[in-house]
Amino acid sequence: MMGVERIGVVGCGLMGGGIAEVSARAGLDVVVVESSPPAKEAGRARLEKSLGRAEVEGKIDSARDVLARIRMETSLEALADRELVVEAIVEDEAAKTELFATLDEIVESPEAILASNTSSIPIMKLGVVTSRPEKVIGIHFFNPVPVLPLVELVPSLLTSPEVTEQARALVEGRLGKRAIDCQDRAGFVVNALLVPFVLSAIRMLESGFATAEDIDRGLVLGAAHPQGPLALADLIGLDTTQAVAQSLYEEFKEPLYAAPPLLNRMVDAGLLGRKTGRGFYTY
Ligand code: NAI
Repeated sequence: MMGVERIGVVGCGLMGGGIAEVSARAGLDVVVVESSPPAKEAGRARLEKSLGRAEVEGKIDSARDVLARIRMETSLEALADRELVVEAIVEDEAAKTELFATLDEIVESPEAILASNTSSIPIMKLGVVTSRPEKVIGIHFFNPVPVLPLVELVPSLLTSPEVTEQARALVEGRLGKRAIDCQDRAGFVVNALLVPFVLSAIRMLESGFATAEDIDRGLVLGAAHPQGPLALADLIGLDTTQAVAQSLYEEFKEPLYAAPPLLNRMVDAGLLGRKTGRGFYTY
């Protein structure tokens, strides 16, 4: 079975940058595509910062050597020779289906795998817009990618078992992650459990039941969570949290998945959490 050496990443935000970093740290040849030159530069700056920190902490020998394995581009054509491409653009179904149809045309090898890091969009919806749905799979990393070991592998009903095994060999064998297998349902395993919990904390804050600090402190000190649910929402990004809630709600029609008004208003206001400097907390 083919081992992947040439990987592509589309989107160099929180997740795409992390996926590019762990791939380059594992010695893979990485091409990253962003949507515009400023976004590309912002992505590169984040990667340099993260790798610089890893070098200072002694986790890698040389940030420069790792960066040398990452090529940053703004045209999807740069992905033509890739063996596997991971999509990590905004959590928007229309944007992702358009991208998958384009990737299907650009990525030349019929054996190449097209993967998505989506948190909640059915993999089948991405597979069916391509001519190779058997090569389309969800490879869902966790934030921050260089730190959290989990990856959810999400084959659709049409994904070939060999592709799932190639993806497992990449994430477990090469990237040093641990994989769990999930069915192609909105939220997979972790977000289907975690997002309603985060939404409950937002409702609790919204109703004036307790302060953000006390809600988070309660879960950290009383349930040994590494961080509280509101701090976690700020880390995930409130727009991403809202998008995942909407996908879960659309799939299951359960009130516990409905985004609370406070979350919607904060997203309207551009208060997206850490990435914009303000969410439930100020950074
Ligand atoms: P983000 O907003 O930090 O990054 C998205 C990046 O994609 C931006 O830099 C944007 O410029 C770029 N982009 C948008 N459209 C593009 C296109 N057509 N071509 C190239 N680049 C494009 O978002 P984040 O948090 O990195 O999320 C990305 C994906 O990962 C989403 O599907 C999200 O659901 C998923 N995810 C997010 C997690 C999180 O904790 N934030 C965890 C696991 C998955």
